[in-house]
Amino acid sequence: MEQIQERIQRKAAEIEDIIKAYLPEETGLQRSVLEAMNYSVLAGGKRLRPMLMLETYRMFGGRGREVEALMAAIEMIHTYSLVHDDLPAMDNDEYRRGRRTTHAVYGEAMGILAGDGLLNLAWETAMKAFASERREEQNLQAEAVRLRRVADAISVLAQKAGVFGMIGGQCADIEAEGAEQVSMEQLLFIHEHKTAALIQAAMMAGAILAGADRQQVERMERCAYDIGVAFQIQDDILDVTGTAEELGKPIGSDEKNHKQTYVTINGLEASAGEVERLSREAMEILFSLEGDSSFLQELTAFLIHRRK
Ligand code: IPE
Ligand code: IPE
Ligand code: MG
Ligand code: MG
Ligand code: MG
Repeated sequence: MEQIQERIQRKAAEIEDIIKAYLPEETGLQRSVLEAMNYSVLAGGKRLRPMLMLETYRMFGGRGREVEALMAAIEMIHTYSLVHDDLPAMDNDEYRRGRRTTHAVYGEAMGILAGDGLLNLAWETAMKAFASERREEQNLQAEAVRLRRVADAISVLAQKAGVFGMIGGQCADIEAEGAEQVSMEQLLFIHEHKTAALIQAAMMAGAILAGADRQQVERMERCAYDIGVAFQIQDDILDVTGTAEELGKPIGSDEKNHKQTYVTINGLEASAGEVERLSREAMEILFSLEGDSSFLQELTAFLIHRRK
């Protein structure tokens, strides 16, 4: 049996090809921004969000290809959030995904525009999921249902990426910088929004596209909350215990920016315990569902001890 790490890598490589197909040609007088966009997306990355979307889609019985446009779209949104997160006005980091950050290579103005470009391209890309795969003999009713699911999935993606989702979390994160005290309530708000929201979008959109009912989508929202908050706590841990070589981004970024994190508030040991607890809770939810969630469970377990 292929090891989980190899399976994850193989799936990430397949996702890479899907994303590439939606990237723009570097042409015209806007060539610089297009280059900067492709540079940041093609730098690699774990492709975790599209992977969670696809696997959730499959778990709920999805077999079509409309999920691919949304997989590419969510990775574009995630990448834009990283490009902007690294800007001098935000975390001011010069290394990401194993190479120099977009603004460090192309300048700050292009860094801002590349982020804007990726966010907009994400919606152009997501809309492609509406394109019909219908053949003449297929019935109109089924096509109407499919279109409705695409609309609902895009709507969830928009909400979770927005001011009541990821952007809201980034706002609270920046404003908490340098604060003498950050409460657990504030910290959980930050982690839920800046990180868990996009993980929720990934799993909810996958479920919706596959035709999951409302209750099932709500369970995925909870499951993805657990995975997302655990993921950010582990990110905080790795900012202290990781290495730049493994992570592909600098360590000590939080300390440099005087950020209170799960680790500064609760210590390394309790933080690791919480990653484990949340991940187990997510795995129980996955286990309780009807479809085959074995890969998602293994992935969740793998993330507990991830080093990058
Ligand atoms: C980094 O996300 C930002 C956080 C939300 C912690 P990832 O760790 O998924 O980054 P990539 O996509 O692999 O580069
Ligand atoms: C960023 O959190 C979350 C985003 C929405 C980009 P961090 O600032 O901790 O992410 P890294 O450590 O730079 O990847
Ligand atoms: Mg940040
Ligand atoms: Mg950062
Ligand atoms: Mg971090």
